[in-house]
Amino acid sequence: AVDNYSFSHLRRPSSTTLSSADLSYALTNSAQNGLPDIAVSPSQGKYLMLQAKLVKAKNILEVGTLGGYSTIWLANSSPDVQVVSVEVNSHHAGVARANLSHAGVGERVEIKLGPGVEVLPQLAEEVKQGKRGKFQMVFIDADKENNWNYVDVAVGMTEQGGCIIVDNVVRKGLLADPNTTDPRVWGAKTVVENIGKDERLDGVVMQTVGEKNYDGFLIAVVK
Ligand code: DHB
Ligand code: MG
Repeated sequence: AVDNYSFSHLRRPSSTTLSSADLSYALTNSAQNGLPDIAVSPSQGKYLMLQAKLVKAKNILEVGTLGGYSTIWLANSSPDVQVVSVEVNSHHAGVARANLSHAGVGERVEIKLGPGVEVLPQLAEEVKQGKRGKFQMVFIDADKENNWNYVDVAVGMTEQGGCIIVDNVVRKGLLADPNTTDPRVWGAKTVVENIGKDERLDGVVMQTVGEKNYDGFLIAVVK
């Protein structure tokens, strides 16, 4: 109810090219094509868009496209932002392409099909060779076991002052459970603990409640 109340009052269609029809099309089309209902919430999507504006992002990297719902928000952070989004599942990537085109941002989003552990090092090499610009923002929302691998590679591709955001690190509070056997929770613990020891990054976990239950983002700034 709070998500619905606040999102509906704070939505300002004129601040983006995003219409509620584009957003609901992406969710409906994703559901009709059998994708799981695990995209970020509307409020979380808007937070990602505003965060991209704060870092004046021109290049954004997303790991885990799913149906492109968060991608649509990121691509609407500015009229000339470019988003690279990595997706391992070709069916998901196809649905995302349709959703992104429908939302009018297909031209500014490059979907890279493949596992993040293979695609990210390739992107890092392109950045190193100057074939691709550095990113100002990275959003990691893929296989949780590889969270730290993704962050570790992403740091080298992200401009100083840019941010790296990891979804789903709180997991109903299991982040603080020392006895959990869930590999996704260990993926969250590993990324929190490793960022805490990493001189290149300064991070914080923001817990969230809402229509996607109790979870949270890890937000890190590249020093
Ligand atoms: C799951 C994955 C997500 O990225 C998310 O936001 C929620 C749930 C999952 O794998 O269950
Ligand atoms: Mg997620």
